[in-house]
Amino acid sequence: MSESRELSLFTSFPAQDYMHQAAEIDTAVARVLRAGHFVLGPEVAAFEAEFATFIGTEHAIGVASGTDAIEILLRALEIGRGARVVLPSHTAVACASAVSRAGAEPLFVDVDPATCTLCPEALDHLLASPAGQTVKAVLAVHLYGQPVDWTALKAVTDKHRIVLLEDCAQAHGARFQGRMVGGLGLAAAFSFYPTKNLGAIGDGGAVTTNDAALAKRVRSLRQYGWQTRYVSECEGINSRLDELQAAVLRVKLRTLPWQLQQRRDLASAYARGLAGICGVQAPSARTGCEHAWHLYVIQCEARDALMKHLNECGVPTAVHYPAAIHQQPGYALAARQSPHLRRTDEVVRHILTLPLHPYLTHEAVAVVCRAIREFADTQPVQ
Ligand SMILES: Cc1ncc(COP(=O)(O)O)c(C=O)c1O
Repeated sequence: MSESRELSLFTSFPAQDYMHQAAEIDTAVARVLRAGHFVLGPEVAAFEAEFATFIGTEHAIGVASGTDAIEILLRALEIGRGARVVLPSHTAVACASAVSRAGAEPLFVDVDPATCTLCPEALDHLLASPAGQTVKAVLAVHLYGQPVDWTALKAVTDKHRIVLLEDCAQAHGARFQGRMVGGLGLAAAFSFYPTKNLGAIGDGGAVTTNDAALAKRVRSLRQYGWQTRYVSECEGINSRLDELQAAVLRVKLRTLPWQLQQRRDLASAYARGLAGICGVQAPSARTGCEHAWHLYVIQCEARDALMKHLNECGVPTAVHYPAAIHQQPGYALAARQSPHLRRTDEVVRHILTLPLHPYLTHEAVAVVCRAIREFADTQPVQ
């Protein structure tokens, strides 16, 4: 297969997403430019209302990024200096960065290797230990679009009387037992980074909640602690969503349900294509839940060799993430205070992200599966 043919099979999501909606996006951008109101205006207000309706919450508050959404949410809950926040180490470093920026200390807990999400038993164990005594919140990350085991995690956090928050940066449109993520608990954080299931043309994020008082604090914190202009009721920050991002997000939100269906169809095609391949574990949605398939992540003992083979075949791959947060120098202190993360250490060595986005063709999925089968056939039988 020629290189240009492979490139056309595997083009990037943000570019394709724009190309498929170019007319509507261009119109939205021109509308904002002509209106001359660029930050926190009518487009942001309309997007917030439309996104809240999509998620099924009373409130959605636009902020400048997903990292800010987590930080502001923690600050709004007064979870800062002297408090610890538990989160998985197997996630984007942004999650720990946001906890530190809020003034709190991150504490890592192990994941369930089958779903790559927080392990309720490990969490219970940690919260009962001396290190768990200053924990004020748990950040449950719906990693790759896979909903966490909300019922089990909620039982643990209720038992220990701490708050359970959602990180939905990778899970727009996922459902836990019929309920849309982002509205499962007290509040949730979203990212609209361009590669996300709902992506802007720059940075963006949101907090969703049904709690009116919390929504009011988040709104105030995102803009200098203002409730009235030029009067800071508290020390806020500048984390505003701009009008261009909001206008583009409004266009893309309309196609999100179709895009989610495409992702699900392609994930099913992968599952069929990978079935029975020795040494390769395909991901699956938690029982009774709808995965948002932000990323399609397989696990393979011979991950590095498979990755090399796929790249030689012209199939772009990635690893989300090559190092867990506790393995990174900047988080050595938090790592020392956290329990041993045996399953996280193992998962990180085996994960491999295959191409998946709504504009990928079934032909491209077949090419990937064929290349993986070819690789598996060359491996010694275990
Ligand atoms: C799980 C998770 N949480 C938080 C974030 C932070 O979002 P942002 O990049 O918009 O700050 C990301 C982004 O990569 C993420 O994947």
